[in-house]
Amino acid sequence: TGRVVVVVGSLNVDLTVRVPRFPAPGETLAGSDLVTASGGKSANQAVAASVLGAEVVLVGAVGDDDHGSFLLDRVGGAGVDVAGVVADGEHATGTAMIVVDAGGENTIIISAGANGALAPGCVPRAGLRSADVLCLCLEVPVAVVLAAARAAHAVGAQVLLNLSPTVDVPDELLRLSDVLLVNAGEAAQLVGPGSWTQTRDRLAGRGVHAAVVTLGGAGSVVLEGAVTEVAAEPVEVVDTTGCGDAFTGAVACRLVAGDLLVDAARFASRASALAATAAGAQSSYPALRALRR
Ligand code: RIB
Ligand code: NA
Repeated sequence: TGRVVVVVGSLNVDLTVRVPRFPAPGETLAGSDLVTASGGKSANQAVAASVLGAEVVLVGAVGDDDHGSFLLDRVGGAGVDVAGVVADGEHATGTAMIVVDAGGENTIIISAGANGALAPGCVPRAGLRSADVLCLCLEVPVAVVLAAARAAHAVGAQVLLNLSPTVDVPDELLRLSDVLLVNAGEAAQLVGPGSWTQTRDRLAGRGVHAAVVTLGGAGSVVLEGAVTEVAAEPVEVVDTTGCGDAFTGAVACRLVAGDLLVDAARFASRASALAATAAGAQSSYPALRALRR
């Protein structure tokens, strides 16, 4: 086998309802029929990279329940190796309660379940090799993320860290990451608001030497020594759920193939824009096949 994208992290069943607008506190609104879909930031990253043509291994946990088998079926069906996803008999499958408004914007509440009980021992030390790319996010305990980053770093694999849904991590994790992926809000939370050069310099001060800041419909900015703005093609937005994960998976897919970060970000911009044109996270990724080389 060639170079592999290894994703260590979360799988969630996404329970989504569309509403004309978000409810106010204490308000009850009528929504659409419930949609049950395969999600979770790490599973989304894995599926996006796989659909785009990468060889992908996912490590994580689901509950020993119907939602868990549903997720393994969907993620495995997308070509991802799910042999490293364990069924945890003590916890339910991770769940995301998602509400999407008429503009395609979302709010998400996570019940971590099995993701929150994942332990550092799950990290596939023997499975990581020098040319591989490891994808991480913060939907599993930071101890797991740190253990995975250390193992990858030790063998010279590239570490891609999507600092979401929290930026509250030890500096060691930032130093171990070869590429940090954040949205503008997360970047500001991490190093405060400022110009792109200020953001780049403050990130460097925390040990981050390459980062991509995603700006939704406005594209992204690559901070790797130089500051490079990457434009996004305008699309008809249906649902932005999982667009950031499509972006991360696409970057991983191109980095493992040997692309430079700027080229990977250009490619990922197109992938995440396509992901915005259909409902759900993984359910919107089939369109990404059009970008396969
Ligand atoms: O980034 C989108 C994902 O966040 C959803 O699939 C949901 O599971 C939440 O984890
Ligand atoms: Na989508």
